[in-house]
Amino acid sequence: MQFFLDTANLDQIREVGELGLLDGVTTNPTLMSREGGDWRKQAALICEMVDGPVSLEVIGTSHEEMIKEAKDLVSFGTNVVVKIPMIPEGLKALRELTERGIKTNVTLVFSPTQALLAAKLGATYVSPFVGRLDGLSQSGMEGVDQMRTLFDNYAFGTKILVASVRHPLHVLEAGLIGADVITLPYSTITQLMHHPLTDQGLAKFLADWEAFQKGE
Ligand code: E4P
Repeated sequence: MQFFLDTANLDQIREVGELGLLDGVTTNPTLMSREGGDWRKQAALICEMVDGPVSLEVIGTSHEEMIKEAKDLVSFGTNVVVKIPMIPEGLKALRELTERGIKTNVTLVFSPTQALLAAKLGATYVSPFVGRLDGLSQSGMEGVDQMRTLFDNYAFGTKILVASVRHPLHVLEAGLIGADVITLPYSTITQLMHHPLTDQGLAKFLADWEAFQKGE
């Protein structure tokens, strides 16, 4: 399973990159606006820093606007994946971008049948938002499981990129289902690394060793 980082923050990208756990990055207008400053400069820096796919999202809501923006976004780097919202105009744009050989990530996917449409039109990735569904008492992961079955039944090459992740259990469930990619907020990567028993265990090992060295 590939790990993408769901952020536009350069420090977070650098840190996870140094851990060797960074396979790519996903951004969205909210994440980009959180960083402030010149988004074009920020996007270019992210693309340069990341040795893997970087999703940059369009803002337009008509397919003409999306295509125009996509042409601009791909100029930021060869690793750019154009993020398109799962709306009818987005599907029109998706079809054209697929024909042009531009990599795409269909975002704001909330049902397996939306994912099916995106896959039929050649999306590179679909992003089911599991956390937002869970927040409405609907199982986000159940939909991901159904997507996996649909894609496998018809041998679609579209990758399932689990998004809107809230906690480590989402990572476990996505992995058991066989999702191709999961995009993680920095906080979840941190949670994944820690376990109280690891910290307690290490503290005890070090204390025992210190006592042994002192001959106690
Ligand atoms: C995915 O690409 C999105 O950027 C992201 O995962 C959305 O998550 P949220 O529900 O935390 O905003």
